[in-house]
Amino acid sequence: MDASDLLRSSLLQLSKSDRLREVIEKAPVSRSVVRRFVPGSDRDDVIAAAADLTSSGRLATIDYLGEDTLDPEQARRTKDAYVALVTGLRERGLTEGGAVEVSLKLSALGQALPGDGPHRALDHAREICAVASEAGTTVTLDMEDHTRTDLTLDGLRELRADFPSVGAVLQAYLHRTEQDCRDLAYAGSRVRLCKGAYQEPESVAFQSGADVDRSFVRCLKVLMQGKGYPMVATHDPRLIEIAGALAAQAGRDSGSFEYQMLYGIRPEEQRRISDRGDRMRVYIPYGDEWYGYLMRRMAEKPANVVFFLRGLAARG
Ligand code: FDA
Repeated sequence: MDASDLLRSSLLQLSKSDRLREVIEKAPVSRSVVRRFVPGSDRDDVIAAAADLTSSGRLATIDYLGEDTLDPEQARRTKDAYVALVTGLRERGLTEGGAVEVSLKLSALGQALPGDGPHRALDHAREICAVASEAGTTVTLDMEDHTRTDLTLDGLRELRADFPSVGAVLQAYLHRTEQDCRDLAYAGSRVRLCKGAYQEPESVAFQSGADVDRSFVRCLKVLMQGKGYPMVATHDPRLIEIAGALAAQAGRDSGSFEYQMLYGIRPEEQRRISDRGDRMRVYIPYGDEWYGYLMRRMAEKPANVVFFLRGLAARG
């Protein structure tokens, strides 16, 4: 393991620490530092950010931050937040043609609650899908750690029975993903392919960056040659180039797949891709529960740790 792998794995470990979460979330300076990746805590903040992106020709998907909910009330509040969000987006005309959609984590909707957690989460998700579908837009289920992959894909199948436009996320770092891509490369299936952001054991996931990249390309080939709608979620310039070449090879036009990036990361590249006529969707998180999200972004790029610490030092 080299130094950057070690840092990555330590940050992903820390992303699960409740104690550190408390300290960091309460530090008076944290919020202003977090702004680079999270435009705000309130619905109005994120609607404004989405309006801004769409006015520049980009598309958006919005995530109400939160994960691993073990409180039924919190799960219900998360569902209500999504319903209010989609309604607000619709009132601003932002959901038309799916320009702005939502991404959700089943664990934020109560999937891990004891007893009927998975059912409860799906009921909440169904309500959100119904409001989104009425507003003319879509929902994508984020993918969490590998212990939840099967449960999430089962949930996807159930939701798609009523709402066929619900999209899935597959993570190239998992050994199983090439097969999952084959299973999901059918007409009407929306699949976001990303590298994967959690700490996973060797038994289920490729550990080296090069192996993950190779898997990403194999998965991309399956998705691009398939009949579904691939969503290529990466900031990696090489993979973006390969995705374009594979799309051309498969005879796809620019409306038959899209690129996706995270809010605040490589914004010039986001604009360049959408200006050349390709679809570019930006994932925008909002809300107060930004700790886990921020730690995963720091794990991806050590320079972000320096950026964060500098922000703390400058204001501390
Ligand atoms: P990689 O990490 O190799 O980065 C390539 C280059 O991109 C870097 O050299 C740098 O220039 C830039 N970059 C990447 N991350 C950066 C950062 N944090 N800060 C600054 N620059 C950065 N994961 C998951 O497990 N489940 C999910 O549901 C999703 N959903 C999702 C949606 C969307 C739209 C995106 C773009 C990503 C996700 N992810 C995700 C996260 C994904 O798995 C992965 O961790 C990140 O996208 C980083 O991987 P890259 O492919 O960008 O490559």
